[in-house]
Amino acid sequence: MDTHRPRRSVLYMPGSKERALQKGKELQTDAIIFDLEDAVAPDMKDIARTQVQEALSAGGYGNRELVIRVNGLSTPWYKDDLKAAVNANPDAILVPKVSTSDDVKMIRDNLASLGAPKSIDLWAMMETPLAMLNAGQIAQSGPSDSYRLRAFVMGTNDLAKETRAVLKEGREPMLAWLSICIAAGRAFDIDIIDGVYNDFKNEQGFFQECEQGRDLGMDGKTLIHPSQLAPCNQVFSPTREAVEWAQKIIEAFEQPENQGKGAITVDGKMVELLHAEMAKRTVVIAKAIAGQTTDL
Ligand code: COA
Ligand code: MG
Repeated sequence: MDTHRPRRSVLYMPGSKERALQKGKELQTDAIIFDLEDAVAPDMKDIARTQVQEALSAGGYGNRELVIRVNGLSTPWYKDDLKAAVNANPDAILVPKVSTSDDVKMIRDNLASLGAPKSIDLWAMMETPLAMLNAGQIAQSGPSDSYRLRAFVMGTNDLAKETRAVLKEGREPMLAWLSICIAAGRAFDIDIIDGVYNDFKNEQGFFQECEQGRDLGMDGKTLIHPSQLAPCNQVFSPTREAVEWAQKIIEAFEQPENQGKGAITVDGKMVELLHAEMAKRTVVIAKAIAGQTTDL
């Protein structure tokens, strides 16, 4: 059983931007992705790699989950990035454009030959048409005692580019892919983190997209700007009412007269044992957000 770790807000920080790397230490983000890939121009790759390694070694990021995004398997930077990432010993390494279960195997083999600690998790960008077709198989290769595939990150900008689907409010052209990745992830206990919202000054549009991702079943959202943190954390946290309702359900099932029952009535509503399971999860998530660790 894993301890639940909140992944509501996952902020990209370009590895080439020294100021952003420092700022990450003060921001209310559950996780940080130190980016060596798309946010970094080709002539800045070496500087970014060094800066990210130094930032992680110097520390100061508290209990934020620290993730390094390396360049993709087929790029000239991948090998050096992976080596530097392993040396920095982050919580996870995020690999772009994972498209097959063989890619996952290859990354695991590369990590093993670098002698990477087995505690490092693997996160995969889901952002190619092939990944959408192979989502189930990629997820199936996730559970492992070492380099566990812990999260899918939706790469909606790359998906739009590769599929020619249009990125627009409501994301109708993308809903099928978002949902298929959620189903694949849930089937094998892999978290799913939604893609970025580019128009970061559009507060209302961003809020609605956070809510849409949450309602689809996402665990959180990737972010590009600090101003997106507070609304995102709000949307992906259980409300006080939801936590109170969850506690009520749990308590009701614990009553002696309800022992052994599969369905009961709480506040006039039918509640089943499956709702009690969901309620326990809500409480665990709320506690984890409040900084208390409980097993899921
Ligand atoms: N992480 C940490 N800090 C960030 C940040 C980020 N992603 N984006 C901006 N900031 C900081 C800035 O350093 C600045 O800090 P300061 O005022 O204390 O010096 C503050 O937030 C305000 O930034 P602002 O001037 O509004 O933004 P900008 O115009 O400099 O940059 C972007 C806008 C979009 C270019 C920038 O936010 C960015 O690079 N985001 C990440 C992009 C990325 O990683 N993309 C790859 C994944 S899709
Ligand atoms: Mg991408």
